[in-house]
Amino acid sequence: MDVKNKVVIVTGAGSGIGKAIAIHFAKHGAKVVVSDINLESAQKVVDEIVTNFGEALPIKANVAVFKEVENLVQHTVANFGKLDVIVNNAGIGPHLLRTHESTLRDWDRVISVNQTGVFYCMKVALQQFLEQGYGNIVNIASLAGLKASPNNISYSASKFAVVGMTKSAAMEYATKNIRINAVCPGYTESALLTQLINAKPEMDAILKSVIPMKRYGKAEEIADAVVWLASENTKFITGQTITLDGGTSL
Ligand SMILES: NC(=O)c1ccc[n+]([C@@H]2O[C@H](COP(=O)([O-])OP(=O)(O)OC[C@H]3O[C@@H](n4cnc5c(N)ncnc54)[C@H](O)[C@@H]3O)[C@@H](O)[C@H]2O)c1
Repeated sequence: MDVKNKVVIVTGAGSGIGKAIAIHFAKHGAKVVVSDINLESAQKVVDEIVTNFGEALPIKANVAVFKEVENLVQHTVANFGKLDVIVNNAGIGPHLLRTHESTLRDWDRVISVNQTGVFYCMKVALQQFLEQGYGNIVNIASLAGLKASPNNISYSASKFAVVGMTKSAAMEYATKNIRINAVCPGYTESALLTQLINAKPEMDAILKSVIPMKRYGKAEEIADAVVWLASENTKFITGQTITLDGGTSL
């Protein structure tokens, strides 16, 4: 996959899928900005990349705070001179409750990170991409952005929104040498999934029973698709969602 020397921001890259994406880009020769709300975890990923693969820079940013997103992009361009790709991966899970029981606080919390955070990152990156005349966005949505996801109202709303923003914005910038796609993971091994299973241990067997491959996805498998979408190998693909779910959506 051709991403050599591309400058890539990955949000929420301190753990799980984001970490795997950052490492995968670095393995393929990209320069990676490892961004996370947790600077310590971002620094650990940077150390791993610098020791084993190449160039990386940690930048602390809460994607739900517009100023911090502006700073993230400015700092990246000041350091590397350009921005080729942004992967909007930072996301959080909700408290699993039926819609009438869910709290306003939980709704605001999830929407502010998963939906508004993606909008902020797209807005600021697109300003930079238009100035440069090129750019690429990969949004991490979810199977929950394509199919019903009961007891998960805020998460479901936020991920359907990410798919919608991906498609609408892809049309806006299709003639501007800017591609925008989304990846929709199914159940994937990560802290987010562990949190869900810890809250309801019976979920482990239930979830596996609905996955035709009878296993969870691996973060590296999601990372593969993200790097491919951001690479020079997919120049005619925009506005698409790629589902990686072991067949669950079938
Ligand atoms: N794991 C799954 O089964 C699964 C399935 C579908 C989609 N996803 C999506 O994949 C993405 C990554 O999830 P994961 O499973 O790796 O979760 P994770 O909890 O392992 O990692 C999320 C990372 O995002 C960071 N983060 C949280 N809030 C942030 C904020 N406001 N600003 C910046 N960084 C922030 C966390 O510090 C953490 O490092 C999320 O968007 C999630 O919705 C995950």
